[in-house]
Amino acid sequence: MARVALVTGGSRGIGEAISTALKEAGYSVAATYAGNDEAAGKFRDATGISVYKWDVSDFEACKAGVAKVEADLGPVEVLVNNAGITRDKPFHRMDLDQWRAVISTNLDSLFNMSRAVWDGMRSRNFGRIVNISSINGQKGQFGQVNYSAAKAGVIGFTKALAQEGAAKGITVNCVTPGYIATEMVKAVPEDVLKAKILPHIPVGRLGEPGEIGRSVVFLAGDDAGFITGSTLSVNGGQYLA
Ligand code: CAA
Repeated sequence: MARVALVTGGSRGIGEAISTALKEAGYSVAATYAGNDEAAGKFRDATGISVYKWDVSDFEACKAGVAKVEADLGPVEVLVNNAGITRDKPFHRMDLDQWRAVISTNLDSLFNMSRAVWDGMRSRNFGRIVNISSINGQKGQFGQVNYSAAKAGVIGFTKALAQEGAAKGITVNCVTPGYIATEMVKAVPEDVLKAKILPHIPVGRLGEPGEIGRSVVFLAGDDAGFITGSTLSVNGGQYLA
């Protein structure tokens, strides 16, 4: 039987590439989304991947959502915590809502989702959790105090939970993408992207979503059991952590 993989924010951007890469690798995939019904419907029709709508910052919604996925597809053995948002503003203009939205969607969600699958993974002595952090959680980024804090938190979460999962066959790793050609990066003002970001990417281009998808498939593999607590940088050489 194919292992079941659940990808949060799995119908658009990097998440879409992760969902399709896992499907191509033979997993039975479920993708969550938060609000864009049209994009999720298109994604489902194009890929045949089941989509589920809930808010990953809501603990009870995650519990209920995971129960529904498990009833439909079977126990979740691979969880990819990918869902994330940006609310970029210089700190002197960042308000509490922008802070809270990013921390709850990008970091609280890891608690909510991982807690919902953890007991099952422990009881089966197998699990893979792959968290999508960011280069900006490693190096910080002007205009992203909220996002950088959340994404740095993702790395700490990964390292701590990896220690707890190790004896139970559960690995917990994270990927830190650099600037990948998705809507999120395209929202960065063109002049900022050209002047402040692209010149710092030695590979000389934005990354492709599929390059993150393949990294996740690698970490999710049954044969990746000795890799845990690690941070895999996929950033074109922009930051060497
Ligand atoms: N370093 C130093 N100074 C900077 C700077 C930087 N990176 N970016 C902007 N500034 C300076 C500008 O030069 C400007 O200075 P002056 O007033 O002296 O001219 C000042 O800050 C204001 O800049 P803006 O006119 O751009 O101000 P703004 O309020 O319109 O926008 C901003 C500010 C929202 C931070 C905008 O610059 C921005 O979006 N920057 C990009 C942030 C970024 O990289 N986000 C990543 C998104 S992709 C992602 O998050 C995915 C991932 O994981 C990688």
